Amino acid sequence: MGAGPAGLVLSHLLYLQGIDSVVVENRSRQYVEDRVRAGVLEQGTVDLLTEMGVGERMKSEGLIHYGIELRFEGRGHRIDFRDLTGGKGIMIYAQHEVLKDLNNARLATGGQVYFEVENVSVHDFNDAYPKIRYRKDGSDHELTCDFIAGCDGFHGICRPSIPEGVLTEYERVYPFGWLGILAEAPPSSDELVYTYHDRGFALLSMRTPHISRLYLQCDPNENIDEWSNDRIWQELHTRLASEGWRLTEGPIVQKGVTGMRSFVVEPMQYGNLFLAGDSAHIVPPTGAKGLNLAVADVQVLARALERFYTTGKRCQLNKYSHNCLRRVWKVQRFSGWMTSMLHRFPGEDPFDQRRQLAELDYVTNSRAAAQTLAENYVGLPLT
Ligand code: APR
Ligand code: PHB
Repeated sequence: MGAGPAGLVLSHLLYLQGIDSVVVENRSRQYVEDRVRAGVLEQGTVDLLTEMGVGERMKSEGLIHYGIELRFEGRGHRIDFRDLTGGKGIMIYAQHEVLKDLNNARLATGGQVYFEVENVSVHDFNDAYPKIRYRKDGSDHELTCDFIAGCDGFHGICRPSIPEGVLTEYERVYPFGWLGILAEAPPSSDELVYTYHDRGFALLSMRTPHISRLYLQCDPNENIDEWSNDRIWQELHTRLASEGWRLTEGPIVQKGVTGMRSFVVEPMQYGNLFLAGDSAHIVPPTGAKGLNLAVADVQVLARALERFYTTGKRCQLNKYSHNCLRRVWKVQRFSGWMTSMLHRFPGEDPFDQRRQLAELDYVTNSRAAAQTLAENYVGLPLT
């Protein structure tokens, strides 16, 4: 269920293992491929997409980075991933470009990806053969499956279809959001710049040598109409200011406000229904982990399914939730920590501010602390 990163990576991984799958998606292919989302790929995600044979365009158009900058009190401090992680880095390559590559690969290999389906529902996932019902081009269809992978995101139907009382939800909603822009401006830094500022967090990221992606901490219910492009640039200049450094402006081609939450549901499976990606967990974007965590889940699921189809054994499938949740909570910890270290919280007092600045000072001046950040940022091992 769902043609996001989780659903498409899983479907192609299964194809490469000789296992048939069908992807049902309620949006159009165009919509899915135009949706502006994240853009940072961990080393492990890059390696997997390359192994799967869908990494060519990523390699030629993506930007490899071996560090990020933490900026506070007007000064930048580089975290050197290559030195701190034994050579690992990250790839800047937009999520919707990854989806284009995966859709092309699925369809080029005869993959069944049904877009624009309606009235989707899932049934009997506690029985041997769960079913997906949907409407497509005016007629009703029913798919009988061995397993259902619920890769339909946070607002999908798979998680809510699990009976009351089975799942435990863990949630934290942050008292702020991000105002994000996409601008036709050459990135003003070679690497991402995470900034702690009195007026709130700011992030300089990018998509290409011509397209910048920038974010400002704002109220979760901020009205984007109250933010003129001039006001946005002015605020970015203020928060990102650093001696001898200048922010290059350009036409803003997209802007929006997103809320921030941490969310985990346990377990991530029920009978023959397996939740993966945003349908099971949401991380605040400060650690750039959403896409990578979705990919990690389906890597674990694909291995367990391969084991089942080659040996008939369900052991790995039965441990799917346990294996994923260990990593999910570590990634939640990291994303929550980055968020707490870099954002201003309503109601905080000057003590908190001093503590945050001391944490930034420690992380940027202790090799041990910088290494912790680096190894989490480039991606923790799968298991
Ligand atoms: N029926 C069919 N498809 C559905 C339904 C439904 N009822 N509900 C949602 N979908 C589709 C969505 O349109 C979307 O394309 O499921 C897909 C879920 O994809 P994502 O939300 O991208 O979730 P996931 O694949 O888990 O990837 C998580 O994507 O959104 C980013 O920040 C997020 O980086 C994270 C990553
Ligand atoms: C992005 O490029 O969109 C991006 C980068 C880093 C983050 C979040 C988003 O932490």
